Amino acid sequence: MGKAIIVGASSGIGWELAIQLADAGYQLGLMARREDRLNELIEQLPGEHWVQCSDVTECEHAQAQLQGLIERMGGVDMVVLNSGVGFLEGRLEWENQRTIIDVNVRGFCALAVVAMQHFEATGKGHLVGISSLAAHISGASMPTYHASKAFVSSYLNGLRGRVDRRRVPITVTVVEPGFVRTPMVLGSPPWMAPVDRAVRQIMVAIVRKKNHVYITRRWRLVAWLAYLMPTAMLAKRF
Ligand SMILES: NC(=O)c1ccc[n+]([C@@H]2O[C@H](COP(=O)([O-])OP(=O)(O)OC[C@H]3O[C@@H](n4cnc5c(N)ncnc54)[C@H](OP(=O)(O)O)[C@@H]3O)[C@@H](O)[C@H]2O)c1
Repeated sequence: MGKAIIVGASSGIGWELAIQLADAGYQLGLMARREDRLNELIEQLPGEHWVQCSDVTECEHAQAQLQGLIERMGGVDMVVLNSGVGFLEGRLEWENQRTIIDVNVRGFCALAVVAMQHFEATGKGHLVGISSLAAHISGASMPTYHASKAFVSSYLNGLRGRVDRRRVPITVTVVEPGFVRTPMVLGSPPWMAPVDRAVRQIMVAIVRKKNHVYITRRWRLVAWLAYLMPTAMLAKRF
């Protein structure tokens, strides 16, 4: 079927995506900090796969690790950048804010560069970035998280424009989930999707090489409304 790397495969959406991609016949390279979790995952997957322990906040080191993994796998067709963190920001604490920026912005950008350079060198490929519906809303509860995901969506759209302008057949897919039941989400917010259903919809977007997808689809309504509602009203709700 193909070869793909998932960055952030040790939990939640990335873990389930590894299961569904392996079932579809992909050979996978799995990256995250928790190597034990990645090895546990690999034991459950059919086929041959690779593991690379990596902390995306150590940007240059993580770039070299991704490059090395691509080489060990003999090239890849797809890279999924899924690693992300988010914290409630009742108190504004720089340590938490910096971690969000380091993982969701610096780490994301650093690894996207390596993936795109590989795809541009081979003249094809597929970059999938897990952003969030939060990209469309300036949230009062998690302002740094929302801003980081606005960066992710905007940056990916810019990368797509760049390859389109050069007429290189590289697909860039922006995935914007609402709430998905994973260890990241506390409590039971509305419209929470089970992770297997959410990932099935991501799989459809991957197969169809879509530019953009809301997960689940109903969150499209919220994104549209977000642009009609005053910022102050949205901030009260989110
Ligand atoms: N769940 C939701 O409702 C939801 C909604 C919108 C968007 N998202 C986005 O979906 C993505 C996956 O989140 P999830 O819900 O599946 O959460 P999760 O279960 O907490 O998974 C987060 C993943 O990110 C990895 N990660 C975190 N820090 C890292 C670092 N410094 N270096 C490398 N990897 C790191 C984790 O691996 P290690 O800890 O092993 O490093 C883990 O594999 C995130 O980008 C999140 O923002 C989730």
